[in-house]
Amino acid sequence: MELNNVILEKEGKVAIVTINRPKALNALNSATLKDLDVVIDELEKDDDIYAVIVTGSGEKAFVAGADITEMKDLSTIEARKFSSLGNKVFRRLENLEKPVIAAVNGFALGGGCELSLSCDIRIASEKAKFGQPETGLGITPGFGGTQRLARLVGTGVAKELIYTCKIVKADEALRVGLVNKVVEPEKLMEEAKAMATAIAANAPIAVKLSKVAINRGIQCDIDTAVMYEAEAFGECFSTEDQTEGMTAFVEKRDKSFKNK
Ligand code: CAA
Repeated sequence: MELNNVILEKEGKVAIVTINRPKALNALNSATLKDLDVVIDELEKDDDIYAVIVTGSGEKAFVAGADITEMKDLSTIEARKFSSLGNKVFRRLENLEKPVIAAVNGFALGGGCELSLSCDIRIASEKAKFGQPETGLGITPGFGGTQRLARLVGTGVAKELIYTCKIVKADEALRVGLVNKVVEPEKLMEEAKAMATAIAANAPIAVKLSKVAINRGIQCDIDTAVMYEAEAFGECFSTEDQTEGMTAFVEKRDKSFKNK
């Protein structure tokens, strides 16, 4: 697996994915998106990884957006292809059957904010800044911002952010529900790893099925959504981990999940 702009590390059951183009504030060009696609292939295959953290390299940025230098002279067809590539990769991340935490260490603008929105949970450093500056560049958000931001924070706040290009600090992002938690910069990775480890201690299949049920259910009417939930719940009862979790509770002993 040859990667130039993304680093993949594994620490026990947790994978850390670092977008690594610090000189361009980790801006997402096609090459970086393709690296991320390859990393997702690897994460999908690895049954020993139970949780994933996505972060940016360097002090300043999580990801400062899609690469403006690459986009500047695109034709209509090329721009659509670029948006489709970003959307394909981010959708794969959103649908990855493992929980993904964005550890937002700095600027999360445009495609960077959208990358964080494709993750399940966002933890922000006090230094993080969020925004969708696209309309100021003469374009719309292109990697899911018009869709996921509105679903997460509601259409009013999403429209305000997208129409005004306002950049909000971490505390404001927390207030509007864009992030789950804000921590001191030096505690960011510690917090993200602690959350990932806490998640990894639970039954991975149950966590995965919860993610699938939430992601599917949020898109449909409540009657269909609760059917997805019942399906997920039932499927858990075909796993060894359900037997282990409940038996350990009844026997008042520590549980040991096997991802089976
Ligand atoms: N694309 C390409 N290069 C970028 C970039 C981006 N999105 N963001 C920063 N860079 C580059 C800069 O060009 C600069 O490169 P050089 O050193 O070669 O000049 C380097 O990163 C450092 O950036 P700055 O000197 O600008 O750093 P700063 O501290 O003065 O400003 C910033 C930081 C406010 C984040 C500023 O860099 C900025 O505004 N970046 C662009 C943010 C943006 O508009 N993002 C949205 C892009 S559009 C998009 O993402 C569309 C989509 O949805 C698909």
